[in-house]
Amino acid sequence: MTRGSLLVDHIGELVTNDGRDGDPLGVRRDAALLIEDGEVAWTGPARHAPAADRRIDAGGAAVLPGFVDSHAHLVFAGDRAAEFAARMAGEPYTGGGIRTTVGATRAASDDALRATVGRLRAEMLRQGTTTVEIKSGYGLNVADEARSLRIAAEFTGDTTFLGAHVVPAEYADRPDDYVGLVCGPMLAAATPYARWIDVFCERGAFDADHARAILACGQAAGLGVRLHANQLGPGPGVRLGVEMGAASVDHCTHLTDADVDALAGSETVATLLPGAEFSTRSPYPDARRLLDAGVTVALATDCNPGSSYTSSMPFCVALAVREMRMTPAEAVWAATAGGAAALRRTDVGRLTPGARADLIVLDAPSHLHLAYRPGVPLIRRVLHNGVPR
Ligand code: NIG
Ligand code: FE
Repeated sequence: MTRGSLLVDHIGELVTNDGRDGDPLGVRRDAALLIEDGEVAWTGPARHAPAADRRIDAGGAAVLPGFVDSHAHLVFAGDRAAEFAARMAGEPYTGGGIRTTVGATRAASDDALRATVGRLRAEMLRQGTTTVEIKSGYGLNVADEARSLRIAAEFTGDTTFLGAHVVPAEYADRPDDYVGLVCGPMLAAATPYARWIDVFCERGAFDADHARAILACGQAAGLGVRLHANQLGPGPGVRLGVEMGAASVDHCTHLTDADVDALAGSETVATLLPGAEFSTRSPYPDARRLLDAGVTVALATDCNPGSSYTSSMPFCVALAVREMRMTPAEAVWAATAGGAAALRRTDVGRLTPGARADLIVLDAPSHLHLAYRPGVPLIRRVLHNGVPR
């Protein structure tokens, strides 16, 4: 945080996400925004802009809240480019490659893991992401899950314990024992570094009974609940997440009407991860169906070396618009305010007085260009806590 005030002036289109006047994006034209002590202090018409110690001229461009990437697996070693190439040649994605990354992650030094998280975090920031959630899940033993979270906590407050990613090979024939380990010593070692608990609830990973038991232990230890659900096929995950008051159920690729109804009557956000469908060549989730039912939708990258090795929220926004029938406004909201809702945060994902001064100046006159000009580096400037990055 820097002291003194900073005025961002000549904003052609300011996306505030204030939800006023029936416009979820809360767009203001010809606007200015004042930052004090790392927070938004004022927004309004440029002609009424107050004096400030310093000034940034947005030159008529669009200014948006920084992206909130509420789902990322950044603590890992190695990559799985060959697995990706095999998929593009017709192999299906099963999640079986997770164990490959577990082997590489266990063998890596703390510094190597920290360097990878730092590299990906920097990559994200350059693409406009100012808040990121980071999961463990490639350690899958007490020491490696704890150190994954310790390293993740160096980069974000939104750390998630995903010891229940898959059952590791050494427990393959005794999954109940692994659930006992996750709920016992692993959770105890993880809790000091974690805000959230997550389970991969899917055929081949954890069933509903195991997932419920693990999430309940996490809740009892003070962690918030989130869940990987209904990614590879229909299943009980989404309804389990709603039943347990999860902040978010993530993927939501295969949903029944009962799943959609459960979400619609709940506070649980549906987080869609189109990078995963892109990289596994799978059908995309039907965002339109969720939005029309009144479900709160978030977009996130799922950045990980297996199913979605992208760190780019603009790419996910473009995919959501082109492939998931979201309007550009819905996609931008989902990538900012939606991500904040998925993390139960009110200080990010909006540009209204009191919010953290996390914002993007686009190299474009409107938010529409994020989907209209896919693959183009449109993030001209990023301010994080009011500080230009
Ligand atoms: O969210 N679905 C489970 N976990 C990750 C993939 C992890 C991997 O393939 O390494 C996901 O897609
Ligand atoms: Fe994931």
